[in-house]
Amino acid sequence: MIKPNSPSCEQNQQVILDVLKTIFTKPGEVLEIGSGTGQHAVFFTEHLPHLIWQLSDLEAEHAGMKMWLAEVEHNRIKPPLIFNVDMPSLNIAKTDYVFTANTTHIMSQAQAEKMFRHVGGYLKNGGLFAQYGPFNYNGQYTSESNANFDAWLKQRNPLSCIKHFESMQEQAEMNRLSLLKDIEMPANNRILVWQKI
Ligand SMILES: C[S@@+](CC[C@H](N)C(=O)[O-])C[C@H]1O[C@@H](n2cnc3c(N)ncnc32)[C@H](O)[C@@H]1O
Repeated sequence: MIKPNSPSCEQNQQVILDVLKTIFTKPGEVLEIGSGTGQHAVFFTEHLPHLIWQLSDLEAEHAGMKMWLAEVEHNRIKPPLIFNVDMPSLNIAKTDYVFTANTTHIMSQAQAEKMFRHVGGYLKNGGLFAQYGPFNYNGQYTSESNANFDAWLKQRNPLSCIKHFESMQEQAEMNRLSLLKDIEMPANNRILVWQKI
């Protein structure tokens, strides 16, 4: 097997790191949902030595992720947990932070909603959830490129789509997650930062 590589991770990791440095400021543990290749975790933990990073994803992603993990020289990344938001919640200790990138638009609306239920349960009170990706606002795409991306997503899987910010906020509130920040990112992406209250 060839070690997988995600060009999008390479493109966005520095700008996401710049934001994480300002929000995941205290030492603690991060649960990542949908870690993919694991590249983000490798890059972020190199630069954020106060964090322990718990990987998770569908089992199909684990072999590639483990190839990235094998090259890491510190022990602050925990091997991936098998996790699909359709599963019952993992039986894990409450965490300080949850991170997810480019997963919300891959999931169906029902799955994205379930992700909030899980996150609400996993976070300690005061804990933060950083959710990176494209979102729609007021029923509109924020750019033509996002509209084209959404059409491409739906062609690939009719259940995948860019989610409406307002529907995410509704789910967040139902799970005691309050919007702390909505940060504009390059290429028409956002980082939504939710705090468990
Ligand atoms: C576009 S990739 C993003 C991967 C990585 N976070 C990144 O930014 O490169 C979407 C990820 O979401 C995961 N995913 C899709 N459906 C999921 C579900 N129902 N539950 C958990 N993860 C899911 C996929 O396995 C995949 O790793």
